[in-house]
Amino acid sequence: MDQDIEKILFPATDIQARIDELAARITEDYRGKELTVVAVLTGALMFTADLLRRIPLPLKLDCISVASYHGAAESSGEVKFEQLSLPDIAGRHVLVVDDILDSGLTLDAILSRFHAECRPLSVRICVLLSKQRPRRKEIHANYVGFPIADEFVVGYGLDYDERYRNLPFIGVLKQVRQG
Ligand code: IMP
Ligand code: MG
Repeated sequence: MDQDIEKILFPATDIQARIDELAARITEDYRGKELTVVAVLTGALMFTADLLRRIPLPLKLDCISVASYHGAAESSGEVKFEQLSLPDIAGRHVLVVDDILDSGLTLDAILSRFHAECRPLSVRICVLLSKQRPRRKEIHANYVGFPIADEFVVGYGLDYDERYRNLPFIGVLKQVRQG
């Protein structure tokens, strides 16, 4: 698996150190508030688990599952919700946690549905990675782990065709080339 990686962008220790900082900020920002964290599966699984263990607040955790990639390295443009019902976030402050902000389509679709159907008090976004490239939807992430160049990355939850999620680091794949 490791031999498929061209270069390591963020070793495990760097990821954990950055999550310490994000968790400290989030803890201060949400102290005394009714917080629900919504993890966007599957990519945000590792990140959310490590982040929440560092946030000592009485929060709730929900998950949402969306698909937009269908095994390719370029977004299909269509965001499909995998569950019938949305999380019960009425009257709560919501922090949506995702692995990476790329085109913005996924988070835009989630935010639009939350605001239209769920009556949250507030919705903020936390992503581990933010790709520096023009977005198809303008999305502002309130908490960003690392900005990255426009490269396809895997590891620490991020996949290529459902593989490489279990790598402890984040790296660039050898064989995927985007035009
Ligand atoms: P967006 O809708 O284009 O912003 O992409 C969001 C989703 O696409 C993320 O939650 C990831 O699952 C996936 N994605 C985007 N870029 C990458 C990448 O470089 N590696 C792996 N998955 C990615
Ligand atoms: Mg994915």
